[in-house]
Amino acid sequence: MEVLKTVKEVQDKVASLRSSGAEIGFVPTMGALHQGHLSLVGQCIADNDICIVSIFVNPTQFNNKEDLIKYPRTLERDSQYLEEAGVDFIFAPSEEEIYPEPDTRQFDFGQIDKVMEGVHRPGHFNGVAQVVSRLFDIVKPDRAYFGEKDFQQLAIIRAMVKQLALPVQIVPMPIVREASGLALSSRNERLTAKQKDIAVNISETLFESRQWMKSLPVQDTIKKVTDRLNSFDELSVEYYEIVDGYTLQPVKEWDDAAYIVGCIAVFCGEVRLIDNIVYKG
Ligand code: PAF
Repeated sequence: MEVLKTVKEVQDKVASLRSSGAEIGFVPTMGALHQGHLSLVGQCIADNDICIVSIFVNPTQFNNKEDLIKYPRTLERDSQYLEEAGVDFIFAPSEEEIYPEPDTRQFDFGQIDKVMEGVHRPGHFNGVAQVVSRLFDIVKPDRAYFGEKDFQQLAIIRAMVKQLALPVQIVPMPIVREASGLALSSRNERLTAKQKDIAVNISETLFESRQWMKSLPVQDTIKKVTDRLNSFDELSVEYYEIVDGYTLQPVKEWDDAAYIVGCIAVFCGEVRLIDNIVYKG
């Protein structure tokens, strides 16, 4: 495994691999890797001749400076995981490599970034689109892998690829959970042991709500999930929305769409966690 730091190094490598017919798979990450990332990496290795993983904590997607400062940076441990997994190249650029000049592009994703994370983290998805389009432009992958935990991000990436007509296949990968059900996230590292026990209620409640939906209308299900989670010390629901899984617009009735997903953001103490559950489709 080689660690590449510059755009030129990546471009040269990719050009020479491509000329020998290799298919390139790509997993963009911000590091602080866990089994969720490693499931993307495993699939990437299985599907492609070459697997490239980027590690770059992208400042333009943090609407909260404190979050950017606190984001765990664990390059040494990440490199070890990726080496063991069989990754070919890590791309770990500096901020200057990715943004030699400030990226002033403003993307328009219509309604899909006007809800949920888009409301609560203004500018976040624009930053994600900036960095991912820049990384795609450098790596020029055949396939790129994204986790379904970031459900809205996946929809944004798909919309961006369509808008920019990029020749890359987006491969979604299922949420990886701890045995307790807690969705894996780099942010879990910031939870105390006690908070982690409490955070388990998020997935537990979402799973249970699949039963509730059989007898409750959408709005009542939203209320029951929200009230239940807010009743735990340290948990505070920022939003819980039940949406059409394609358009991300809220549904009013269970019959409103063929694919329905519940998406949640919850503070556990000061740590903001997201998760989602498929109700239909
Ligand atoms: O999901 C993430 O880790 C980030 O948003 C991504 C896609 C690597 C862009 O910085």
